[in-house]
Amino acid sequence: MEPREFGSTGVAVPVLGLGCMGLVGWYGERDDAEARATVERALDLGMRHLDTAAVYQDGENERFVGRCIRGRRDEVFLATKGGMERDASGRLRVDNRPETIRRACDESLQRLGVECIDLYYLHRRDPAVPLDDSIGALVDLVAAGKVRFIGLSEVAPATLREAHGLYPVAALQSELSLWTRSATQPALQACRELGVAFVAYSPLGRGFLSGRLRSVEDLPEGDTRRLFPRFSADNLAANQAVAERLAELAGRFGCTAAQLALAWVLAQGRGVFAIVGTKRRRYLDENLGALAVELSAADLETIEAALPEELIAGERYPAGMQDSLNG
Ligand SMILES: NC(=O)c1ccc[n+]([C@@H]2O[C@H](COP(=O)([O-])OP(=O)(O)OC[C@H]3O[C@@H](n4cnc5c(N)ncnc54)[C@H](OP(=O)(O)O)[C@@H]3O)[C@@H](O)[C@H]2O)c1
Repeated sequence: MEPREFGSTGVAVPVLGLGCMGLVGWYGERDDAEARATVERALDLGMRHLDTAAVYQDGENERFVGRCIRGRRDEVFLATKGGMERDASGRLRVDNRPETIRRACDESLQRLGVECIDLYYLHRRDPAVPLDDSIGALVDLVAAGKVRFIGLSEVAPATLREAHGLYPVAALQSELSLWTRSATQPALQACRELGVAFVAYSPLGRGFLSGRLRSVEDLPEGDTRRLFPRFSADNLAANQAVAERLAELAGRFGCTAAQLALAWVLAQGRGVFAIVGTKRRRYLDENLGALAVELSAADLETIEAALPEELIAGERYPAGMQDSLNG
């Protein structure tokens, strides 16, 4: 898998990374043996970029990823995120105070069982804390050798520019897929101008764009997607029109819907990287097949014209979480 330069870091990273959020919970049934085998196979096949976060299963995700990469640390470009925590009532709360960032990073290092994190993101921006203070805390982590590069997630272009003026930001991680396009364009454009890597999360629309989620009954009880507006029974039914059109297009391109959806993301520019989530080796293999799907500018136009965003029913996030976007 050919690596591309990751923003302005001077480090080359393969364009397709593994999103680890769903390895041990969050989406569907848990199967730790298969999840572990998937991480190992990803590394065997040349994937390097693994993405996790402190809040995923309250640290359990980082512990699991840490166990999977033990003995293979040198093969991994390891990304995690801090600055968002659960409060005593279990609600997620953004907290970018320097003392929180310092503590959270130490905890992540310990759970992951590593001495240094390659890419450490602020998971969301905390409007209550001056950006200089939060970025200053990240810079101190770099100086201490605990973090190699810093990143931001789901921030507004103005925040990215301001942060990048304080210290080079290696990457912005935001949602980008065929069903989340226009909301991300300003951030993508800012990354291009600044030479910041753009890391596209949920590139398969949390699995929807594979065409394998037909109704809410396909999501087991406790699957977090049940809380997301686009996966409500009504919206999921309405969104089948999108899945059907995508499947039809994929047939024309001689690939699967998941592969076409990923190929579209990777065709958004040389600075774009995708982290696709799966805990199954067979999906991993299928997804890697996207690298062989080449799309011309005319192909991109055809795909986008066939899938206007107006067709998509539902917001990206539940109301309480939508507020923390574009901070
Ligand atoms: N910064 C942020 O705020 C943020 C937010 C969300 C996600 N992320 C990161 O981005 C990563 C990827 O996003 P995501 O996991 O939300 O969404 P995604 O990559 O769009 O989709 C993951 C889902 O798609 C399914 N899937 C994968 N390949 C498939 C295939 N070929 N056919 C059918 N289904 C397939 C997976 O199923 P199985 O689980 O059954 O394998 C999983 O349920 C996460 O793991 C996380 O690291 C970051």
